[in-house]
Amino acid sequence: MTFNLDLYFKQKKEIIDRVMLLKYMRPKETDPVILHEAMHYSLFAPGKRIRPILCLSSALALGMPESDVLPIAAALEMIHVFSLIHDDLPAMDDDGLRRGLPTNHKVYGEAIAILAGDNLVVHAFDVLTELDANKYPPQNILKVIKRLAQATGSDGMIAGQVIDMQSGGKQIDINRLKTLHRNKTGALITAAVELPAILCGAAKDTHERLVCYGNAIGLAFQIVDDILDIEGGKELGKNIGSDVKKGKATYPALMGVDRAKEAASEALTEALDALANFKDNAEPLRHIARFVVERKV
Ligand code: IPE
Ligand code: IPE
Ligand code: MG
Ligand code: MG
Ligand code: MG
Repeated sequence: MTFNLDLYFKQKKEIIDRVMLLKYMRPKETDPVILHEAMHYSLFAPGKRIRPILCLSSALALGMPESDVLPIAAALEMIHVFSLIHDDLPAMDDDGLRRGLPTNHKVYGEAIAILAGDNLVVHAFDVLTELDANKYPPQNILKVIKRLAQATGSDGMIAGQVIDMQSGGKQIDINRLKTLHRNKTGALITAAVELPAILCGAAKDTHERLVCYGNAIGLAFQIVDDILDIEGGKELGKNIGSDVKKGKATYPALMGVDRAKEAASEALTEALDALANFKDNAEPLRHIARFVVERKV
């Protein structure tokens, strides 16, 4: 039977949204209502949920029940949405459209948008305490928490966002641009596939191959994001042309769209090579890698 990626995405997205809504998020009526409403507004807006889906798919490739990694999947999406809300603020990219809707600060104002982002990241680490310490060694759970903190902070996304803000309007070389992309976007994507391996204490080689896969698709993901900022259609759910307007350091700006597309497909080859020794249960990861490069959303 051929693998249906659209159906797979739909099914996994439903599982993730249900568990976030019913189990891991506080109801949006919780006091202070404006804060919880703002968190729900961006979290449940129609995004791809690619990081939590990668996490579930990595668990599948490792032979773990996907329910065991749901707290990690939810935490990843919460941290990602925190990064999106803050990324769109006037002090950062100053964007008005996200996931097909007005950005968080356009609806709730800057103060609440900042606080909703703050609370999503705090809450993400709270959710991680739901990991099953009777089933997995507590030291593995601690390593998961530490690794996610690194991928979020000054060894990952936030570091990348700082480099991004400092690189606007400047010429940076390919190595610096790679560092920027690997940090701002690659770190959380790599974490999504690596954290299940840490939780179950996977063999070193397996763990390293998943990291290699994550690094490759993480870089490809941001290269394609840069390309879509030029070539994307309405279905993207964000305003295009934002990068050129701000003089952002991007792959197309450095090497042109065609060469950027080549760089993304080179990364795809690298990602698929990393999974060469995995069995059929890594098929979703292989399909997701192709999606990352071919996507229009
Ligand atoms: C957008 O991420 C921001 C980047 C890190 C490139 P996504 O393209 O995953 O956005 P959503 O979650 O689908 O909205
Ligand atoms: C996003 O980079 C990185 C984040 C950590 C949110 P961009 O600024 O290019 O993302 P979009 O295009 O606004 O989604
Ligand atoms: Mg940005
Ligand atoms: Mg942006
Ligand atoms: Mg972008």
